[in-house]
Amino acid sequence: MIGLESKQEHLRIAIQKEGRLSDRSLELIRESGIYHVQDNKRKLVSRGENFPVEILYLRDDDIPQYVADEVADIGIVGENVVMEKGKNVEIVERLGFARCRVSLAIPQSEMYRGPDYFRGKRIATSFPRILQKYLDEQSIQAEIHEISGSVEIAPGIGLADAILDVVSTGSTLIHNRLKEVEVVTRSEAVIIASPGTGPAKRKILNDLLFRFQAVQRSKNNRYILLNAPNENLEQIVSLLPGMKSPTIMPLHEKGWSSLHSVVNEDAFWDIIEKLKKLGAQGILVIPIEKMIL
Ligand code: PRP
Repeated sequence: MIGLESKQEHLRIAIQKEGRLSDRSLELIRESGIYHVQDNKRKLVSRGENFPVEILYLRDDDIPQYVADEVADIGIVGENVVMEKGKNVEIVERLGFARCRVSLAIPQSEMYRGPDYFRGKRIATSFPRILQKYLDEQSIQAEIHEISGSVEIAPGIGLADAILDVVSTGSTLIHNRLKEVEVVTRSEAVIIASPGTGPAKRKILNDLLFRFQAVQRSKNNRYILLNAPNENLEQIVSLLPGMKSPTIMPLHEKGWSSLHSVVNEDAFWDIIEKLKKLGAQGILVIPIEKMIL
């Protein structure tokens, strides 16, 4: 086995072995400049070569338990799994990927007028705890059928009247002639930690979070360069405040300046129209590799 017997303090990170979060979790670790070598025989653990971490590859359902039991110090897992398992773990960072909804869905042919629809119905799900909480909040009595996979086929084979499941693009529901009628909760990838993590491991965790945040921030932002007429510079600066404030340099052509700033990806398309109206030209938008505040 690689590393687990080592005396040096290492932070053990549990990630999903395969599935929705697995590739993005590994990509985040790689983009944070951490190289690790996997134990080829068992593919259960790998060890950071240039950063004190060990990575455990687990089923996502098991990650909250491993972290609560302090077998792993932190885990990267869907928030929906954390809610469902209800273990004693702390969410220390939201990662903004693997966004999805946990929704109730019913056959497309059914009429839906509101949550009362579910009174006395059989609902299939892998998330009985989340479902029970929702039903209690709505004061609805229904029958919960807990199944571990292929929940979406349950209504079609007569096992249930409705389902509660993860919805991302919605295509699984469409393929199974179902429609989403209630969003019960929303989820994204999060980092969970054991509340008992000691100071040495907390220090490694903080260093790791610093790197993750720089990577995540860079993904959400773009570097923007444009040419602007001087008379509209103030208005353009108010649209592009940047990290501190934009860089402005005079162009050789009189009355014009070049402006460099950072723009949030989500706001970009709204802002671009306003920039054009203010006379901005030659707008370049460039990806950012890492972003440290
Ligand atoms: C979930 C869910 C659906 C699918 C929905 O499964 O159970 O099958 O995603 O995604 P869509 O709205 O984009 O079609 P997941 O891939 O997470 O794997 P699972 O079988 O482990 O639940």
